[in-house]
Amino acid sequence: MCGIVGILGVTSATPRILESLKRLEYRGYDSAGIATLEGGTLDRRRAPGKLENLARKLRDNPLTGNSGIGHTRWATHGEPTEANAHPHMTDRIAIVHNGIIENFRTLKKELLDTGVTFEGETDTEVVAHLLTRYLKEGLAPHDAFAKTLSRLEGAFALCVLISGEDNLMFGAREGSPLVVGLGEGENYLGSDAMALASLSNRLIYLEEGDWAELTRESVQVFDARGNKVERKVAISQVASTMVDKGNHRHFMQKEIFEQPTVVAQALGRYLDPNAGKVKLPDMPFELATVSKVTLVACGTSYYAALVARYWIEKLARVPVEVDIASEFRYRDPVYASDGLCIFISQSGETADTLAALRHAKEAGQRVMVLVNVMGSTMAREADVVLPIHAGPEIGVASTKAFTCQLSVLAAFSINLAAAKGMIDEAQEDAYVAELESAPKLMAQVLHHDEKLQEIARSIAHARDVLFVGRGIHFPIAMEGALKLKEISYIHAEGYAAGELKHGPIALIDEHVPVIGIAPNDDLIDKTVSNLQEIMARQGKVVLMSDDAADEAEHMFAYFKMPTAGALVTPIIYAIPVQLLAYYAAVEKGTDVDQPRNLAKSVTVE
Ligand code: F6R
Repeated sequence: MCGIVGILGVTSATPRILESLKRLEYRGYDSAGIATLEGGTLDRRRAPGKLENLARKLRDNPLTGNSGIGHTRWATHGEPTEANAHPHMTDRIAIVHNGIIENFRTLKKELLDTGVTFEGETDTEVVAHLLTRYLKEGLAPHDAFAKTLSRLEGAFALCVLISGEDNLMFGAREGSPLVVGLGEGENYLGSDAMALASLSNRLIYLEEGDWAELTRESVQVFDARGNKVERKVAISQVASTMVDKGNHRHFMQKEIFEQPTVVAQALGRYLDPNAGKVKLPDMPFELATVSKVTLVACGTSYYAALVARYWIEKLARVPVEVDIASEFRYRDPVYASDGLCIFISQSGETADTLAALRHAKEAGQRVMVLVNVMGSTMAREADVVLPIHAGPEIGVASTKAFTCQLSVLAAFSINLAAAKGMIDEAQEDAYVAELESAPKLMAQVLHHDEKLQEIARSIAHARDVLFVGRGIHFPIAMEGALKLKEISYIHAEGYAAGELKHGPIALIDEHVPVIGIAPNDDLIDKTVSNLQEIMARQGKVVLMSDDAADEAEHMFAYFKMPTAGALVTPIIYAIPVQLLAYYAAVEKGTDVDQPRNLAKSVTVE
């Protein structure tokens, strides 16, 4: 999603903004731009495509000035052309925006009626013209900005420079995140701590409705009613050095191979193997009183929630409901008294998940979040935060965050079961020991990646691929299909193996690879039977299992997995499906780390 950075500085702004935009690349974008203010005059450069295109423009035609704003745009209104790229400018202001102005049509009509002409199709341009109108009407910048904000509906983070105002920058946050960075004789604005990491670690996270007026020497924050408010200064832990790919070709590959390490780190925070216990942070409620768990998330995080349902119901015998965040609040969910709602989000900023969290909170539910970004909005709004400790995930397709989410959810499930008295100390000890084995088994899987590379080559040019699994591995089948779709652009679907004959089996022929996820559990025979049905119709079956080698002889390919218990299999089976997608994408030559149309942090509904 769009990324914002603003610098009110004492040295040349452009190279510093470019570096910050580079840090924001991971969010996904399709055009970029920078505007600077020099001697009271605004100027800008914009380019569709990658930041390199903008950098080239800047080399040919540099932008001077110590203050500036920059933007990476993920198109919502209007194609990713130069005209639609931010910053948007009038003769008075330059503005960058993340989010959607929902009443932009009404505002645009109002502005068109007064003779304003628009350059592109974005919703942001109405904000630029509205603010310009109020400035031209003679309002002081502070009042003009406040009046502009009062006219806007929707979700936005804004950053604004005004011509003739060399020591002034405005920012506003409503629905989309925005952070103020405090410097020495300089101040900054950015979408997140990552954007500002090379500039400052002293941050003010703006709250909903807040807006900020910055000079080089001061920062004033106002709430939605325009009252001056104090917000606390947080110290960011995000490293100022740029995260790099190490020896890997892509961030995604690096992040896949990092999984044994980060999962061990995450488990280290939640498991006490000596005591044979799970240790969770203190909670403002008793877990033993939880009558129902509601898990809500989007995309890959939603699949982590689906896996957790099996663990929580099996171990703790607490009813679990799982929903996609964008559906949850619109179906008017029935909350249980003493219910616990858990929201899972790598970024902690996903608009739908955040809206669902607020819905649950308003309904008086206890709210827990699993996030990877500690300063994120969800982390700040929840009653309990369980960090997943995956470290920065740069590849747009989530990999290590998924297995860390699963690891923390497994630990939580054990803890809930113990709190509910459904397992005794010896069982808790055994589950903790089982979970502890995950990193070692993950490393074993990664050791055989060349076999997956070979399989990936043979499916990379398929038009459709199906993934099937049963029970707790059904969500892994869906995750495998999502990974393949998003980075290799191959159409893929994940099905419960038993569902195939109720329709999807009609798709099977000799051109359709089917990936079967079948660990040796009490469902293996049934899954293998379903795979036989596919083979009988010439489907190309690729089996991932720690057993069934005999059946595998007749299959298209077999990937041997280590044997593990049900708390660990979903975690380790995530790896071969990730690698299959990764190698298929490499074979096809797609943009693995920033696949087309996708954004890392989805801050619009
Ligand atoms: C897929 C992927 C997405 C995210 C989804 C939710 O690889 O990364 O499906 O899982 O956009 O994002 P978060 O977890 O940040 O809420």
